[in-house]
Amino acid sequence: MFIALIVAAGTGERMNTIIPKQFLPVLGKPLLAHTIDVFEKSPLIDEIIVVINKNHEKQFRDQVLTNIHAKKALRFVFGGNTRQDSVYAGLELIFNRPNDYVLIHDGVRPLVSDEILKRSVEDVVKYGAVCCAIPSVDTLKVSKNNNCIESTLDRSMVWRAQTPQSFKISIIWEAIQKAKADGFCATDDSAMVERLGIPVYLVIGSEENYKITTPQDFIRAEENLRWIKS
Ligand code: C5P
Repeated sequence: MFIALIVAAGTGERMNTIIPKQFLPVLGKPLLAHTIDVFEKSPLIDEIIVVINKNHEKQFRDQVLTNIHAKKALRFVFGGNTRQDSVYAGLELIFNRPNDYVLIHDGVRPLVSDEILKRSVEDVVKYGAVCCAIPSVDTLKVSKNNNCIESTLDRSMVWRAQTPQSFKISIIWEAIQKAKADGFCATDDSAMVERLGIPVYLVIGSEENYKITTPQDFIRAEENLRWIKS
């Protein structure tokens, strides 16, 4: 079984809007509904869990659930203070199914494609842990004080992580428990598995599968979604 775990419990401060970005309307429905739709329509996904902020329950019920033609099992659960806490809350619903697979996806990446889901599902069965990513076209610098460059990374070895990041449930559950016990907090899921020495394989993502972070991203997503639906 393949379960989509869509994390959408953030407050979206960087967007600077009163409405949290996952609830901003695009083509008549909230951004989050577009993201859920991709998983809802994919024949590869059996179940969906959405993690939301407990302060957003009414918006989620009134604006998102009413806009989804849910044919498959869809549950929601309240998230926590960090993305990792929110992932934990979702995994708590499924950790007792160690041999199933989970695709963990950011609710604010509505342009994830069927091809990415197909590659993720195929490869997670083969490898147990896979991370969707794209090669970096920019040269990346490391700076600890946001001022002076400390080092330059070899671009040919640098990838930009996206989601979904997909795992056999036993693997990500062990990794997140260990991260919690050690006080390790990561900005993505793969990092928790990497630190256990378990190999995480790359799945090719796409430039379109960007995370909506700024108002400019939102305008671009609106155009992209309009084009896809037309
Ligand atoms: O904060 P960041 O940009 O990494 O958020 C990526 C995704 O994680 C977003 O969809 C956001 O709603 C979600 N998130 C969450 N719980 C948090 C923080 C972020 O579910 N506490």
